[in-house]
Amino acid sequence: MTDNTGHTPPDTSARKDTHLDLARAQMTEMPAHSLDRIALPYSALPELSIDEVDITTSFMGASLSAPIMITGMTGGTARADAINEHLVMAAETANIAIGLGSQRASLEAGTSQSNLRKLAPKACLIGNIGGAQLASTNGIELAIRAVEDIEADGLAIHLNPLQEIIQPEGDHDWRGVERAIGMLVDRLDCPVLVKEVGAGLSAEVVGRLAAQGVRHIDLACKGGTNWALIEYLRQSPENQPVYAPFIDTGYGLADAIGAARESVPDAVIIASGGLRHGLDIAKSLWLGANMGGMAGAMLRQLEDDDKTLHPERLASALDMLKTQIRTALFLSGASSVTALKRIRTRLSR
Ligand SMILES: Cc1cc2nc3c(=O)[nH]c(=O)nc-3n(C[C@H](O)[C@H](O)[C@H](O)COP(=O)(O)O)c2cc1C
Repeated sequence: MTDNTGHTPPDTSARKDTHLDLARAQMTEMPAHSLDRIALPYSALPELSIDEVDITTSFMGASLSAPIMITGMTGGTARADAINEHLVMAAETANIAIGLGSQRASLEAGTSQSNLRKLAPKACLIGNIGGAQLASTNGIELAIRAVEDIEADGLAIHLNPLQEIIQPEGDHDWRGVERAIGMLVDRLDCPVLVKEVGAGLSAEVVGRLAAQGVRHIDLACKGGTNWALIEYLRQSPENQPVYAPFIDTGYGLADAIGAARESVPDAVIIASGGLRHGLDIAKSLWLGANMGGMAGAMLRQLEDDDKTLHPERLASALDMLKTQIRTALFLSGASSVTALKRIRTRLSR
């Protein structure tokens, strides 16, 4: 059902816009991060020109300018749709990967987000639905429609039981999700990416996903946008004490990358959860990831406190990320991401 603007019903819309407000309000300063204890090697003898440092990356069949993905953020309200329009255009211009937020509300309301593909015809665009929806009746059909609607290059399935269990209106039945993911991998022609939303994926879960045929993983660890806290803040005062002990649940990124890489040596791993700058992305690559993903930080670049949008600021932020990744590789004496990984192997012998 849609309201008279063609958007999702008022209750869902209000929730989505509250999510945007609460997510934006988090992390206004540069907080500490698990990657702070990781130092890249510094080479005083790089024997390189910064101009020859190559940060191009292949991802889901696309040749990207940098190992960067803007990870999915909610859609389905006028405000969220405007945000997504600017995010996809910025990703297209910068030639990086971009995920949409959950397409469920739009698909169930019978509306389309195909305008996003029109705005970014060449972008590496990843669709999104929830694991609990995938496992429900007609979930696989919903997933196929999500891909078709935006001619997606891949589909992300988000696993967020922590968020859902604290969310007043959340999905509390997570049975059958693992098997549904395996069925989806068999049915879709494009890659399936499985992600958390800020609590992280353990090595054990990553191994089980690989056994279902999943090759793309977004770790989405804790340290950035905290959905448990956001939903806790939306709970009634009577219920808040029930959920308060769970706000800090999950895995930090610095440990999760190595654990996932060990569990699935051949997977494409996106490191995310509170990444702040290109040095964090370079450290993630050093630890074994293939790409860095950012959501909250990108939202804060695009949208101001007064809700005005600043696409030029987002574009500059993406340029800065690339310069920082290139600088980090240069200072480590690495001419490419592959060279950075070779240095790590050499130093760990
Ligand atoms: C406003 C907002 C909405 C989000 N909506 C979704 C969503 O619909 N589906 C999803 O898979 N992840 C969603 N996420 C989670 C992000 O993709 C990401 O995994 C998480 O925020 C951690 O990254 P960060 O710390 O860089 O924000 C959302 C994040 C934000 C900030």
